[in-house]
Order: sequence, then C-alpha cells, then structure tokens
Amino acid sequence: MAQNMRLDRFFSSQNLASRKEFRTLLKQGRVAVNGAVPAKADLKIDPERDEIFLDGTRIGYQKHLYLMLNKPRGVVSATEDRSQKTVLDLVPEELYRPGLFPAGRLDKDTTGFVLLTDDGEFAHRILSPKQHIAKTYHAVLDGPISEETAAQFEKGVTLKDGFTCLPAWIKTVKDGQNPIVEIILHEGKYHQIKRMAAACGRHVLSLKRIKMGGLCLDPDLPEGGCKALLHKDIQKLLEGQGAE
Ligand code: URA
Repeated sequence: MAQNMRLDRFFSSQNLASRKEFRTLLKQGRVAVNGAVPAKADLKIDPERDEIFLDGTRIGYQKHLYLMLNKPRGVVSATEDRSQKTVLDLVPEELYRPGLFPAGRLDKDTTGFVLLTDDGEFAHRILSPKQHIAKTYHAVLDGPISEETAAQFEKGVTLKDGFTCLPAWIKTVKDGQNPIVEIILHEGKYHQIKRMAAACGRHVLSLKRIKMGGLCLDPDLPEGGCKALLHKDIQKLLEGQGAE
C-alpha cells in the first residue's frame, strides 16, 4: 500500500537515490518532509499526502513506472531466462524497479516498441482485446499483398488452425519485391502477424512494432534503448482505439 512507506524506500522507488545515497542526502540536510528535516531514513510517510522535498523542490509521487523499450532482435520478452538475454536485461540500473515486466510479448526476432511496467492493471487494460488498443507494426513481406488480402484482414483472417482473428487493417507503405506493409491489430495472439500472413500465402521477413495506442516508438530511441514515459505519454497509449 502507498501509505506508510519508508522515506528511503520512497526515494529509491522514484529513482532519486539508492538507500545508501539517501543516507548521505539526509546527513547533508537536503531532504524535508512537511517542512521539517527528518532525523531517520526509516521515517514512515504517506507518499500521496505528505509533502516531500529534495533541495527545496517538491517531489511528486509516481506510483508505477512505465518504460518504452526499443527491442532489438535476439532478445526474449520475458522477465527471466536461463540462457537468453531478456528485455529486462536491457533496462539501465537507474530506471530499474522490482516488479517490472513486459506488457505484451514480441517474438525473439521482432524488433520495436515494448512497454515495460510494474502496473499489472494497466498492462491488462492495454492488452485486452475488449479495450481495442491498437498495436501497429511494419512488416517486410516476401511479396506484394492483393486487394483480397486487405479485405480478408478487415473481415478477420482465419488462421490455418481455424481461429478467426478480430478485424485488422493492412496497407502497403513501400512497394517492391519485398514490400513494407503497415498492420494494425487489436489483439495479440502467439505469432499472430506471421500466422495471418501465412494464411494469406505470404511470409514475414522482418517485423517491427512501431506504435501502441496513439503512442509512437520514439525515432530517437536506438535499438536496445529504454526511456521512462511521462503521464502524457501514458494518456496517448490509451488513445487510438479502433483502426485509423
Ligand atoms: N505478430 C507476430 O507474429 N510476432 C510478433 O512479435 C508480434 C506480432
């Protein structure tokens, strides 16, 4: 619960200082709680009500953390793996928080936007097909798509195992022998795009997630890079319901 959090834990949860660093800040008299300089690092505070200051600046409390990761190839969307690098291994120490997990999986060979968070409720919300949060991908295919394929996507592709997907959307963004197509999905079944393409006689050569809801993958974030999202980004993530 948010109430009764130790003051040093508050600082580490907000990525402001480790517990050890916090003791130094305290000794230096740089921390204030409700106008008074606290004596002990384990002072119990209510992070949502108490006024906490560092060097005279009020620290707002962010209960959960939301990170945008640009996943490279060869990394698995798991919290731990015995032999393979996971998306959590890419989170820099200063952004790491216990409880982080990927909200939705990309295949090992898929690149792009992975949301990492410690907010289970939010993850459920953006992943649930009922919420219609769009996930947008760019795929390089082994050949062009026909009008029938586009129509099939809009109707709901029936996979080879008989499962019928929710209506999706596909358009060519770059023609050629190996065209690039943009695909928008509202659900996330295992290997979904690869299986949808296969059901339409196409093979996916490479795949990248470029957007979740209304939030685009930051073009300045290099592969393997990770950044904290702001409140306005989170709002954007919840936008873009329905095909554009
Ligand atoms: N569809 C796939 O086939 N793979 C992914 O990683 C994501 C969507």
